[in-house]
Formats: sequence, structure tokens, C-alpha cells
Amino acid sequence: MRLRDPVLMEKREIPQYQRSSSRLRRSGSARIVPYATSDWLVGSAPMAFPATRLRRLRQSEPLRAMVRETRLSPASLVYPMFVCPGEGVRREVCSMPGVFNLSVDEAVKEARQTHTLGVPAIILFGLPEKKDEVATGAWAEDGIVQQAARAIKREVRDVVIMGDVCLCEYMSHGHCGVVRAAHPQSLGAAVAVPAAISADYEIVNDATLELLARTSVSLVRAGVDVIAPSDMMDGRVGAIRKALDQAGLINTPILSYAAKFASGFYGPFREAADSVPQFGDRRSYQMDGANLREAIREIELDIEEGADMIMVKPALPYLDVIAAARERFDLPLAAYHVSGEYAMIEAAARNGWIDRDRVMMESLTSIRRAGAGIILTYYAKEAARLLG
Ligand code: PBG
Repeated sequence: MRLRDPVLMEKREIPQYQRSSSRLRRSGSARIVPYATSDWLVGSAPMAFPATRLRRLRQSEPLRAMVRETRLSPASLVYPMFVCPGEGVRREVCSMPGVFNLSVDEAVKEARQTHTLGVPAIILFGLPEKKDEVATGAWAEDGIVQQAARAIKREVRDVVIMGDVCLCEYMSHGHCGVVRAAHPQSLGAAVAVPAAISADYEIVNDATLELLARTSVSLVRAGVDVIAPSDMMDGRVGAIRKALDQAGLINTPILSYAAKFASGFYGPFREAADSVPQFGDRRSYQMDGANLREAIREIELDIEEGADMIMVKPALPYLDVIAAARERFDLPLAAYHVSGEYAMIEAAARNGWIDRDRVMMESLTSIRRAGAGIILTYYAKEAARLLG
């Protein structure tokens, strides 16, 4: 392990060309050159080329399949769905072709189809009729996700329903928590404040926790099986666990979006869920994309607070975080292959620039290889179809 550390490698001060030239010399003549400058090769030295030819095991698909280290299965996929008011509504999201806003009746059909394909779980997001400054639509008994959960539970019995717990879709300002203007002014004025002076408001952590807890209890009572908080407030896993337990819902697991980065890759989701922040951005609560050690701390704290499963999000740009989390923690680990990752593949494929199915499976396999046992992806149905 030590030798794979790029910093340690650098310290060795062996220029790249020297390493490769010593290898070249070796294979170019029968003379045996000691591995003095490249002891990172020692392990494989006795069996090197020509005795060893890795291409032998790549000759046919049955051989390749036999030695394949990472396998995808529909059983580890979760399909995200966006539920909206109305009946018979099936409105395609412009930036996510193949993904729809679905009314409850359509969501039931979609859940059934997903289940039939062998995908065991869905995660629900809601587009409420009305938004306000306390996210009523998130925790109301007749909230849109509550309605969908009840209907799906009734019709598609053994599908696992996850509920994304966040307030941004239900807040008039589009932030994931309660907003307080830093200066005495109405929230209406705060909404009008341009991003440049956005320090004039605060996303209030502790007041938000109560709404998240209330939302979680309400979702579980409506039939949601797994609570998945994605808001990135501090202490929310603990607050939610406590509220669930007090409500007697001791058996509901929490899948925490533990390391969720402030990311440009959420763009299409915000169109799908109508949750664009009306001012400022999410950098005061979601993580800085440059930070791996902080991601580990986030995960550690969520585990201490009672998370049953943890998630890293987005997926492909953060494979190192997934790998580090897998190495370090023994909880089930999920990764969210997010809207922007999906949209990029779709856009390039529609231009004929890449082979959609190949790139889709390669992406999902990479996320799995990095260590995620569970993958949330808009490709869940398509991948399940291909996997048969
Ligand atoms: C809610 C939430 C978001 C996503 C999942 N839950 C958006 C955000 O944080 O802005 C993103 C999912 C995706 O991009 O596919 N906060």
C-alpha cells in the first residue's frame, strides 16, 4: 500500500523515464538487470513477461467472465422517481431524456415496472402543489410523496420505498433548510437579493432539524421503508433517529447522504425536482468537492448518530471518496450516480459520440468496483434490462 502512495512515489525521486528504460533494457536483451531502482516491481519480477501474458485470460468472453472481479446486479440498484400532482401526468424532464415527472397513478405503474425488472428499490422525490417557507409539503400528511408512498405500498407490495428527506423542493426559496435573513428584512426581500450579496442570509441548521425529523416520521407513517436525508445539516441523522424512535418507528433504517458534495452535476435534477435555489448556492451546507478527509469525518459522525447505511454523492467524480469510505467503514455503502452524470451520457449518445449502453454499464461497474454496494441511478431500469 505504501508504495502506491503518490506522495511517497514522488519522494523516491526516480524519474519516470529511468524506470521505464530499466524495464525496456530488461525485455530487450537476455541480460538480467537488477530491480535496484524499482523495488515496486519486485513482487511480480519472477513471473514477468514472457512467462506471464495477461492477455491469455482475455481471449474469449467465457474466460473474461470467469475472471471478472466486479459484477453488477439489478439487486443493488435504486431507481429515483419524481412525483407531481395531477392524474395521468407523464412529463419528460428536458435535461434528462427518459426521466419523467409522474403523477401518483403513473408513479405506481413505474414502480411496478421497475420491480418487475428486478430492481428492488425506488427513491421518491416530490414536486408539491405549493411551496412556502416552512416546507409544509414535505411533512404534511397528504404531501405528494406521502400520497405516492401509500399508493405504491398498496399496489406494489414488496418494493423497497426510500424517501429522500430534504426541504429544497418544498421551500419557496429552494434551499435545503430554514432561511433567516441576516438583516431585518422580509424573506421576500431576501429572495430578491442577488447572489453577489448572498451573505445576507443564513440557512439555519438547528431549526431545520425539527422539520426534517417531522418529515421523516410522516413519510414512514405513509409507507416509506428507508429514510434518506440529503440536506447536509449537522446533526440531522441523530435528530431523525430520535424522532423515529420516539414515534415507535424503531425498525426504520436511515440511509444517510453522508458525504454529499456541492456539485455542478445536480443541474438537471434541479429542473426535474423544481428545486433551484432562488438566491445564493448550497456551498454553506453541502461539502467542498476538494475535501476527502472532511468526507470521512462527515461519514464518521453520521455513523455515530445512528446511520444504518451511508452514501457518497455524486459518484463518478468522487470514486476516490467511495473507495476510501469502503476501506474505512463496514456499513453498507451507496453511491448516487446523479442527474448530471446521466445527462452527459444521454447527450453524447444522442449525438452519436458514444455508445450509450457501453458507457452506462462501464460507469456503473466503476462505481461498484470503487466499493459501492448500492447504486442509485436513473439507469436502474435500463441496466436491469441489459443484465437480464
Ligand atoms: C435534494 C437532492 C438533490 C439531489 C438529491 N437530493 C439536489 C441538490 O442537492 O441540489 C441530486 C440528485 C441528482 O442530481 O440526481 N437536496
